[in-house]
Amino acid sequence: MSHVEQDDHSNNLNAESSDFSQIVEKGLSRRRFLQASAATSTIAFFTASPLANAMARPPKTQSLLGFDPIAASTADTVIVPRGYQAQSFIAWGDAIHPSAAAFSQTNSSADQENQFGDNNDGMTFLLLDRNRAVLAVNNESTSYSTLFEDSGNTLTAEKVRRSQAAVGVSIVELQRAHRGDWQVNVNGRLNRRITAYTEMELTGPAAGDDKLKTHADPSGTQVLGTFNNCANGSTPWGTYLTCEENFNGFFGSQNKIDVPDEDARYGINSGDGWFNWHQFDDRFDIEKEPNENHRHGWVVEIDPMNPQSKPKKRTALGRFKHENAALTINKNGRVVVYLGDDERGEHLYKFVSKGKYNEHKPEKNRDLLDEGTLYVAKFDAKDGEMHGDGEWIELTFGQNGLTPENGFNNQADVLIFARQAATQVGATTMDRPEWVAINPKSDQVFCTLTNNKYRGVREGQEINAANPRENNIYGHIIRWEPKNGNHASSKFFWDIYVMAGNPELYSNDDPRSGSTNITADNMFNSPDGIGFDNAGRLWIQTDGNYSNSGDFAGMGNNQMLCGDPNTGEIKRFLSGPTGCEITGLTFSPDNRTLFVGIQHPTGDFSAIDGIPRSTVIKITREDGGVIGA
Ligand code: FEO
Ligand code: CA
Ligand code: CA
Ligand code: CA
Repeated sequence: MSHVEQDDHSNNLNAESSDFSQIVEKGLSRRRFLQASAATSTIAFFTASPLANAMARPPKTQSLLGFDPIAASTADTVIVPRGYQAQSFIAWGDAIHPSAAAFSQTNSSADQENQFGDNNDGMTFLLLDRNRAVLAVNNESTSYSTLFEDSGNTLTAEKVRRSQAAVGVSIVELQRAHRGDWQVNVNGRLNRRITAYTEMELTGPAAGDDKLKTHADPSGTQVLGTFNNCANGSTPWGTYLTCEENFNGFFGSQNKIDVPDEDARYGINSGDGWFNWHQFDDRFDIEKEPNENHRHGWVVEIDPMNPQSKPKKRTALGRFKHENAALTINKNGRVVVYLGDDERGEHLYKFVSKGKYNEHKPEKNRDLLDEGTLYVAKFDAKDGEMHGDGEWIELTFGQNGLTPENGFNNQADVLIFARQAATQVGATTMDRPEWVAINPKSDQVFCTLTNNKYRGVREGQEINAANPRENNIYGHIIRWEPKNGNHASSKFFWDIYVMAGNPELYSNDDPRSGSTNITADNMFNSPDGIGFDNAGRLWIQTDGNYSNSGDFAGMGNNQMLCGDPNTGEIKRFLSGPTGCEITGLTFSPDNRTLFVGIQHPTGDFSAIDGIPRSTVIKITREDGGVIGA
């Protein structure tokens, strides 16, 4: 890839460096990461970066971060800054219909269908009118250790059914009596559970393909359920996007069989697995239903306004272990969706719709996600630099080697086996792409690369400019800016916003110390959930090592931080209870209420009868002000 091209950013190349670059340049030369020879000149990271310089001269404003940061903590509770309050909002097993049974480990699958699901993750707040809203929440998974009294040591068909009812999506109506005081409305007409057996439709270019047909569905278009719903997205036409991640863990087989290579790439295994649904539900036995697993690993679009609507699995967005779906309407009206595939050495994708968003005729937008082009990212840089340009490579049958000679016979093959297509076209292997977030105040896009212990260690996961740290146990956040601010462009510029690390343990010249915007006061590892608020504050959630010891000493429990994308400053905002990850965030439109997910706590958090429960918490300011300001 050529680095000669200079575009409209080039006139900034000699501009004085930004505040941000001054903060990080000391600590972030790729030379330090690669331990290059003394002959390599020291690279001042960011100083010569077109991206950094594009943001080099923002008006001098005060920091976006107006709260007093909190210290790291190992306490089994939620801690927020002075002047803020956090309350439990809704938890696994709470009623979402008036007839729901009270939470108990002995609840039935039918009981669970009327209760909030387990392991809440990504979520979206949708305002209906001044005092009425909908909260759509993913229920990523369930934990047999808390779901069943016997930890699932013995399974039955009903226990499998209950496990299937505990996952998927929960949609709940909210109402408020007065400002900021949002509450769940158990009687809400829109309240709905979507489970691993809800009827759905496969749509888009792969729908009806032979590889999606099963005994129960010879059409290859009708599928039951969604599960491992990790993170999310939403559309301006009022729908919710739920993203299917580690679907492989729900499949297995009674007999040990050879798993086809194409499925092994997605982690499908024979024999027993995480949940053993196959023991009582043939659909999940890969020997009996070898194609069922191809019907999962998609982005699913749900209309929360119509409780009878069939969710649609949008195959045009590709099949992989989807983290979230960051959607924007491009300047030319096309819908652009950025998508991460959370696995070590997998890839980062982008979908661009064929049709254009129609603000005035909502019905015209209904199937925009069915037709368009999928791309995968390739990051380039000059030798010794940790910023550069990049290219979106098209994943279209017949192009870029996606041909029958290489095993792709049509577009359905390209989409169902998007990972193989990405490899075929030479996409960059990444350190586990988790959430993507688009800054509403700029054209910049951020993606968490949570960690990758195999980087530089395993074959096929060689160090590259965008993933520069060997044995990357702390993770980093990469960002890019599309050429000319056009998200449909195939070109972009990129750099790294933060390298997490432990500057207390490791000296400045050790890559494990992280970038210089990491200090003893804001250390964290494994960034995962991210999102922007209206003011352009970047909220960062962690799903990492909470031992508070060894390499992770001083980091405490999983947490939520807030970053200023202009200055690089990062402050810790929240510390979670024991054993949890912090995942899922959504604001009320006025940004005065923030909902945050506490997933799989292991202590006493939200406990009933000693069973800790995943919980959505609600955060407000005591003075009713804007969160983070
Ligand atoms: Fe469900 Fe990649 O986190
Ligand atoms: Ca995650
Ligand atoms: Ca994670
Ligand atoms: Ca999780």
